[in-house]
Order: sequence, then structure tokens, then C-alpha cells
Amino acid sequence: MLKKTLIAASAISLSAFAFTACGSSDSEGGDATASDDGSFTMGFAQVGAESGWRTANTTSIQDAAKDSGVDLKFNDAQGKQENQIQAIRSYIQQKVDVIAFSPVVETGWDAVLQEAKAANIPVILTDRAVDSEDTSLYKSFLGSDFVVEGQKAGQWLVDNAADSDVNGDGKINVVQLEGTTGAAPAIDRAEGFADTIESEPTIEVTASQTGDFTRDGGKQVMESFLQSDDSIDVVYAHNDDMGLGAIEAIEAAGLKPGKDIKIITVDAVHDGMVALSEGKINLSVGCSPRLGPQLMDIAGKVLDGEEVEPRILTEETTFTQEQAIEALPDRQY
Ligand code: AHR
Repeated sequence: MLKKTLIAASAISLSAFAFTACGSSDSEGGDATASDDGSFTMGFAQVGAESGWRTANTTSIQDAAKDSGVDLKFNDAQGKQENQIQAIRSYIQQKVDVIAFSPVVETGWDAVLQEAKAANIPVILTDRAVDSEDTSLYKSFLGSDFVVEGQKAGQWLVDNAADSDVNGDGKINVVQLEGTTGAAPAIDRAEGFADTIESEPTIEVTASQTGDFTRDGGKQVMESFLQSDDSIDVVYAHNDDMGLGAIEAIEAAGLKPGKDIKIITVDAVHDGMVALSEGKINLSVGCSPRLGPQLMDIAGKVLDGEEVEPRILTEETTFTQEQAIEALPDRQY
């Protein structure tokens, strides 16, 4: 499968069409370079505000822009690809120096990215990838390896298989709460998990449905899983928020999350870490939302004509319940 790039962008308002870029974009709109003092304008098209992870990511980008003297134009696409495309087009019209974005879904970006390229505005993908054959459409992709995250979740379950057959029927029945359909983290976290659990034949994903990366979505899907199946051993949620929604549904059904049903999540952001430290989640795979400082650095280098790596991976780890208790006092997101 073709992979992939993502863009992170920060923007503030799409209505500011009369905006003048502060870098040295020429009147044709493009060939952007940082101005003499290193400042530049970035248009950032964010996915939305669907999760604690996303909120922390937006804060990181906005804070980093402020600290670096970057004029940030930020748009919240409310989870809709068409809004992101509109935002990117607006940034092209505004002649920003650089565009960054985190694509809601993987496919369908070539046309708008070609428009940015034709306008000589470099694009940087952050957090999520795009699935495009034309890698010249973006300069770099900064973010996590979501397949590895899914593998880490699966490996924990394989390693803890003996304790995870809560119903004692010799099988480990897993229900999966998927992220947004078509989004890179949903596709990759499912793939990494599925590949890894193959090594333990007692583990089976018995149901899988999208909860759209939201707490409400996770709660609703989990309620319907609980109504149709009384043999669920494990929930694998593609993010903390859906795991937290599942906890609400499990508790409402009179069961103990983390004990009667094991819970594995991805993100390890604040609310997930609290639930982990309370024993309601069993493992959270880290996914760093703090991409802002690196993004500003990469953008500055691109505008200065420096070479940047086409793929920049963020470092992350996993958290058990004990590790969450230890990490929480210093956790900043
Ligand atoms: O793309 C990163 C994912 O998007 C996070 O894991 C999830 O919480 C968010 O919505």
C-alpha cells in the first residue's frame, strides 16, 4: 500500500482573506522564504477538537508558533475533509509562506496539494499521513508510526494473554473501537494490532466498529457491543477518549473496567493516564501530541532552503498502570 504523508497546519481564521504574508513570498504568491528576522506565516489546517490528544496538539502548535515568532493562521476543520481542503485553498489565496496540516483521512489530497505546489507554497504533513504516489507534494511528514503503536498494543495482549481470558472460556474475545474511518491512525493501529495478535491463536477480534475518536462515540459503540455480547474480555480502543467512553458504558452495565473487561488504549494523554492510574485502563500506548516545536523548526529550515528529512518520527513509549502513577505528577498533557 502506498504511504503516506501528513500535514500539520495551524491557522486562525479562514475569513481573513485579506491577510498579507509576513515572509518574503513574492506577489505571485510563492517561492516563500523566511524573512530576514526568520519570521514567517504558516497556515495550519487542523483535524478538529475530537479528543484530548487533539486539544494538546493544537496547544502545542499554537504555543510553539508564539514562541518562535511565527504568524500562525489556524483552522479547525471539525472533522471534515472538505473543510480542510477549503482551509488549504484559503491559505494559498492568502499567500502564506508555508502550509501544514494533519489530514482527517488519508486519500483525496492530490488536487489541493498540487495547487499549493503550483503556488510554490511548501507543505508539511504533521501527525497523519496522506496516501499519495506523488511525494513531491510535501516536504516532510512529522509524526508517530501508528502501525508500531498497534503492534505495541497487540504485543501487550499477547504477553498478558493468560490474565486476559476474563470469562475463562479459553478464548480472548476482543472488541475494537476504531478511530475515524479512513484516517491513518485508524487504519494503521488496526493493522499493527491484527498482525501482532496472530501469534496467539486464542486472541480474536470479535467485533470492530468506529467510534470516530470521540468519547461519545466510544461510549455508544461499547453500549451496543455489551448488549449483543456477554463474553467480551478486552476492549482495544484506538485512542484514550474512546476508551474513556467505553469505561462509562462498562460501569453503567455494572461491570468493572480494567478487571471484568481489560482495556487497551492509545495516546496516554492526561485523562487516559488518570484512568490508567486508577486501574480502569490496563495499558496505554503513548502517542506524542507535542509536535509544535519540531514543526516550527522544520518549516523554518524548509523556508531557508535547507534539506529536511522526508519522514521524521516522534519517539514514544507505553504506560502500564504503575508507570502511569509514576509519570502523572510531571505529565504536561
Ligand atoms: O492522529 C492522532 C489521533 O487523532 C489521536 O490518537 C487521536 O486521539 C486523535 O483524534
